[in-house]
Amino acid sequence: MATASRPLAVVTGASSGIGFELAKQCAQGGFDLVICADEPSIHQAAQLLRADGARVEAVEADLAGMEGVDKLYQAVGGRQVDALLANAGRGLGRAFLDQDFNDILRVVDTNVTGTLYLVHKIGRDMRARSDGRILITGSIAGFMPGTYQAVYNGTKALLDSFSFALRAELKDTGVSVTCLMPGATETEFFERADLMDTKVGTEKKQPADEVAKVGFEAMMKREGDVVAGWSNKLRAAIANITPNELLAEQHRKMAEPGGASKH
Ligand SMILES: NC(=O)c1ccc[n+]([C@@H]2O[C@H](COP(=O)([O-])OP(=O)(O)OC[C@H]3O[C@@H](n4cnc5c(N)ncnc54)[C@H](OP(=O)(O)O)[C@@H]3O)[C@@H](O)[C@H]2O)c1
Repeated sequence: MATASRPLAVVTGASSGIGFELAKQCAQGGFDLVICADEPSIHQAAQLLRADGARVEAVEADLAGMEGVDKLYQAVGGRQVDALLANAGRGLGRAFLDQDFNDILRVVDTNVTGTLYLVHKIGRDMRARSDGRILITGSIAGFMPGTYQAVYNGTKALLDSFSFALRAELKDTGVSVTCLMPGATETEFFERADLMDTKVGTEKKQPADEVAKVGFEAMMKREGDVVAGWSNKLRAAIANITPNELLAEQHRKMAEPGGASKH
């Protein structure tokens, strides 16, 4: 049974995949929730999460724009946010020049503009209170030029970098920033990003609940970053010492359209 004394977590992109599992971790970890996504399925997610004893409020808002972020912030209504899990994001496969520019903008606006604006608003409240936890879902994709997913990888490079910088700025304020960097994870991401005919879209991936668990635990321990899974840790370490040109060629093999049958 939810009580008034439970801390509050705001989780974006919680209707499916990693975000839903992060919200579940929060509910099981004693948080009440405000969850947000762009489509009505966020209400079904809320229903499922209530089974874990949390008080859950669902907000349907498009976080690709400042209006949607304002709507979410208004729904929080001045309540103390103990944890912000800024996770909403989307990918976009295929060659940059073949992508629709509106789809490109949507990736940038959701992953970057919306995320930064939400972190700015809730982060200020946390700093004023000298307490809070922020988890940002970046990606190991941020370590490599994303041939056939060029803009998406760029947005994640920004979030990975931003997360470390903000953490340093907030050192000693009581507000911690953690960057969750998953590798390929079994979610609806690849289908939505039109990557189902690629190697990365069709290969076996890490389960979303495993990824969310390591992310949630790192956030609770106020760690700076966590890469989910040993093979991804290895991939991230290798990426750090590999020339970008080579990384871009390796990414081609993973994300090239039609590559599911080729490589
Ligand atoms: N899957 C992977 O391999 C992988 C790897 C590294 C990082 N990530 C990151 O993990 C995060 C979650 O992705 P996922 O893999 O769990 O994919 P997912 O199952 O497609 O979930 C994406 C979530 O974000 C929400 N969302 C997308 N655009 C939105 C918008 N404009 N406004 C509000 N909500 C929006 C979606 O809600 P709607 O359906 O309502 O739009 C959904 O709840 C993303 O940031 C992604 O970049 C994923």
